[in-house]
Amino acid sequence: MLAARNFSAARQCLRSVRVTPSFVAPVSQIRGFAAPADDAVAKFKGQKGSDVRATRKSRIFLWSGASRIESVAGKYTVTLIEGDGIGPEISQSVKDIFEAAKAPVKWEPVDVTPILKDGKTAIPDDAIKSVQKNYVALKGPLATPVGKGHVSLNLTLRRTFNLFANVRPCRSIAGYKTPYDGVDTVLIRENTEGEYSGIEHVVVDGVVQSIKLITKEASERVLRFAFQYAESINKKKVRVVHKATIMKMSDGLFLNTARDIAKDFPGVEFDAELLDNSCLKIVTDPTPYNDKVLVMPNLYGDILSDMCAGLIGGLGLTPSGNIGDECSIFEAVHGSAPDIAGQGLANPTALLLSSIMMLQHMGLHDHAARIQKATFDTLAEGKSLTGDLGGKAKTHEYAEAIMKRL
Ligand SMILES: NC(=O)c1ccc[n+]([C@@H]2O[C@H](COP(=O)([O-])OP(=O)(O)OC[C@H]3O[C@@H](n4cnc5c(N)ncnc54)[C@H](O)[C@@H]3O)[C@@H](O)[C@H]2O)c1
Repeated sequence: MLAARNFSAARQCLRSVRVTPSFVAPVSQIRGFAAPADDAVAKFKGQKGSDVRATRKSRIFLWSGASRIESVAGKYTVTLIEGDGIGPEISQSVKDIFEAAKAPVKWEPVDVTPILKDGKTAIPDDAIKSVQKNYVALKGPLATPVGKGHVSLNLTLRRTFNLFANVRPCRSIAGYKTPYDGVDTVLIRENTEGEYSGIEHVVVDGVVQSIKLITKEASERVLRFAFQYAESINKKKVRVVHKATIMKMSDGLFLNTARDIAKDFPGVEFDAELLDNSCLKIVTDPTPYNDKVLVMPNLYGDILSDMCAGLIGGLGLTPSGNIGDECSIFEAVHGSAPDIAGQGLANPTALLLSSIMMLQHMGLHDHAARIQKATFDTLAEGKSLTGDLGGKAKTHEYAEAIMKRL
């Protein structure tokens, strides 16, 4: 089972590096952001001008101060998985807003309707090739059949592209009153193994066993990424959330690996906290977590990140990035909302914030900052909110209000 897993990317990211890209950094931090080192974990490898043939790429010379800067005309091609249910509606809003912001992005829509390969759920080859070629994708929600049918496509995508870290910034949005104000923390979840390793079997009738798999290799790569990410967004503390008191070997390995990795990052304070204790403390007062990046095994991250989303207004406002060494996929954390699909009622904010994380990952910080400011200002004004936020605006009306500010 383990032999089939692709660990080559993991080895690549175990080298010590200093600076990584930032996702959803506060606007104030975006402009002064340092370029990622050449060997940074998960560094974006896409090229501007990938939408035109190499021979047709034109070079433009600009003057910036005393320097002559050469810039390649054209756009970055980004794979777009619109998704199911409300996916096409909220994707349309993002496309419209990117066009209004003149973001240099050309969308390449792909179909990810699952196919069966050797009896297993797989992503169609064209979609895989597109993401591999473009190194980045934006993804709408995908519906998953419950208890039968194909394996979750979200899980399949993570496995296909070895997306080892799920990053979920959790930040209060000004103007939208939620149970807590001033929340600003980040959760990073190991995305490939733990309780989600998919190794389950029937021992005897009525008894099933599910394996929680923790490897040093996968733990090292997500932990190193978490430390680098903390440095990149100026958070000085990394906290591992675990349950090594009970799962002494598996969570113990994750925790001990974290202690080792921490030695490579003397500028970042490291500590650890039991999962149950973290839950109690976060819902009591989340603000002490504002200076921290929290990193944890798969299932804890799944639950804790949704809990934190609840602190700031729910899944409709929460973005995420699935980060891999070769490519990264950015997505809203909510589902396909079949109950409101096709009615123009969906809130595109979570997908839009995910697309802003994507722009930051691609190094397009100015465009990210402009779209982020227009979005936050529109939400703060409160005149054009969608129904889930207590407003009356249709999806496209909310998007238009953002576009007017660009
Ligand atoms: N990442 C993903 O692709 C993802 C994540 C979660 C669920 N799903 C899938 O989505 C389908 C539906 O799942 P569910 O109903 O449990 O969760 P859901 O997130 O789709 O919906 C839960 C509730 O939130 C509302 N909602 C969700 N997003 C909204 C938005 N952007 N604007 C306004 N309201 C919104 C819905 O109307 C619904 O009332 C299932 O097939 C599930 O497997 C996919």
